[in-house]
Amino acid sequence: MKGVTLPTETVFVMEMSPIKFGLGAMDEIGFDAQRLGIRTALIFTDPHLAELGLAERVRGLLEEQGVKADVYDGVEVEPTDRSMEEAAEYARSKAFDGLIAVGGGSTIDTCKAANLLACHPAPILDYINKPVGGGRPVPGPLKPLIAVPTTGGTGSETTAAAITHIVDQDVKAGISHRLLRPALGIVDPLNTLTAPPEVTAAVGADVLTHAIESYTTRPYDARPKHNPPDRPVYIGANPASDVWCEKAIEYVARYLRRAVLNGLDVEARLHLALAANYAGIGFGNAGVHIPHAAAYPVAGQIRDYVPAGYRTRHALVPHGMAVILTAPAAFRFTYAASPERHLRAAEMLGARVTGLGEAERREALPQALIALMRDVGMPSGIAAVGYGDRDVPALVAGALKQPRLLVGAPRAVAAGDLEWILRDAMRYW
Ligand SMILES: [Fe+2]
Repeated sequence: MKGVTLPTETVFVMEMSPIKFGLGAMDEIGFDAQRLGIRTALIFTDPHLAELGLAERVRGLLEEQGVKADVYDGVEVEPTDRSMEEAAEYARSKAFDGLIAVGGGSTIDTCKAANLLACHPAPILDYINKPVGGGRPVPGPLKPLIAVPTTGGTGSETTAAAITHIVDQDVKAGISHRLLRPALGIVDPLNTLTAPPEVTAAVGADVLTHAIESYTTRPYDARPKHNPPDRPVYIGANPASDVWCEKAIEYVARYLRRAVLNGLDVEARLHLALAANYAGIGFGNAGVHIPHAAAYPVAGQIRDYVPAGYRTRHALVPHGMAVILTAPAAFRFTYAASPERHLRAAEMLGARVTGLGEAERREALPQALIALMRDVGMPSGIAAVGYGDRDVPALVAGALKQPRLLVGAPRAVAAGDLEWILRDAMRYW
């Protein structure tokens, strides 16, 4: 029986990859590959991790259980459509029945794309979300992918998205479809122990921003009603995503400073790895908004900022740094849409939120974020990575190329609002 047609969404979906978590969890990968029916695997990794021997270690663990594996170590950090096509080309040249991604978000996303393009060959742009690409849905099941995150940040082991840089259009865009989700995520906090403090800080900033953006994004029931096949992966804040995001914020607040101070603090590393995964589950369903949209041009238009702690001599703003740099300004802007959620996020970050006047209430979340940024060594705003007033129009134009993310902002955001946010994000202290 057909019921009444409701004007706004009444249904939300909660999807995530199965997760194996814990100290030493990676040692069990041979058993898990077997269990998923993998007999011949392709391991994807980046040249740095290959040099450190991690991919070889995984290969040994697989072979102990009779799973044959080849290693592809050509994954590019900050992958492009071209580097993903190259990875897919490699996959198509091999016989395999499963894939293993060992690395950060770049590696896991490249592996997802290679799996898709090897199983259902087509130009990558066909699958990229509109308006950048054709938005073609994934036609059918992919081969099982086991994701082993080594940075503990992106949550890509549980999300349905693969993000890339489209070289010809000079824009970041993604493929998002539920069938891209890994068959299993193996989160082993031991893999994060060697991350330098600067990397730990940026990764933690990404986790925190995922969680707060998902917590404050336009709720699912304030969005238009979707037909099931058209319902997007990012459906808005909902009672389930809230649970994961709240826990992620709490853990980052409690453990990020500790892990930056002492990388061998296993308790802190373990909780940050949990936080990354929880935030991935939260934003993988609810979605992110302004800070992630603005982060693309902030990272993409960088001229000469070279971050400490990274193995690069090239100008680069790490993703987590790019997202947190506009976050305090963005949440100042979005505060009015849901003051109670912004205050609750501030409270979970340790801020006092009772007995405040309205102006102080609006500042609670931005100030809590700024305090954390200072403590973990983040730059003081986008001016500190080389941007000035004259760059604002190009940054605004870049953020406007992310309508899929901006639609998640809890209040309508126009070019003028983005300009205000970017100017406000120049210098926080
Ligand atoms: Fe992110």
